[in-house]
Amino acid sequence: MSTHISAAPGDVAPLVLMPGDPLRARWIAETFLDDARCYSEVRGMHGFTGTWRGHPVSVQGSGMGQPSMAIYATELFAEYDVATVVRVGSCGALTEQVGVRDVVIASGACTDSAMNRVRFEGLDYAPVADFGLLRAAVEVAEQRPAAHAVHVGLVFSGDSFYAARGELVTRMVEHGVLAIEMEASALYTTAARHRRRALAICTVSDHILTGEETSAREREQTFGEMVEIALRAALGPDPG
Ligand code: HPA
Repeated sequence: MSTHISAAPGDVAPLVLMPGDPLRARWIAETFLDDARCYSEVRGMHGFTGTWRGHPVSVQGSGMGQPSMAIYATELFAEYDVATVVRVGSCGALTEQVGVRDVVIASGACTDSAMNRVRFEGLDYAPVADFGLLRAAVEVAEQRPAAHAVHVGLVFSGDSFYAARGELVTRMVEHGVLAIEMEASALYTTAARHRRRALAICTVSDHILTGEETSAREREQTFGEMVEIALRAALGPDPG
């Protein structure tokens, strides 16, 4: 039992998928896992463990934003000895190259959060994905029938969903950022600190330039594709 997760030692699998929304965690567990059981309901931030093709897998909600992600990721790595976390989330597309329903695999994450500025006393730090996981996810995505385009590149992990200064995001886009979300930077930094593997895979739920949004049904379908990519990338392309 850690401060925010009420699991017993050994209840959490070495591989954890992390959606932001705890109800998504339940949906993933019910849709993809066999024999899933809930190990924590603290603050309604559900976590489940079951098996996928015989491999133990957990799904844990992260909540929204970097402080929340950092709490859950830290406890998973430090208290439950989790080896691999794959964030399966949503993001907003920032460029015309990226369309709604596409998948963005975050090779690295920029941020306006002060968390790393405090950690490194003002120095910049570049939070990046685990390279092996990133490579595996790209290979898995390329081999799948291409329902939606898959992009690999930088995301912007913003602290504010309702961003006050859109022109700064525009400047980020001029420097190669593809999409905006709110958690990858904290996940990558926390994983690095604990010498564990992490990757963020996001489906594009809305387009910041065009205002286009996906329906709840579409989000569920593209979300499912992303979960498949995450599981196969983390467990090997042909996991039994
Ligand atoms: N901003 C931040 N996070 C998001 C967005 C967004 O527009 N869409 C999905 N996650």
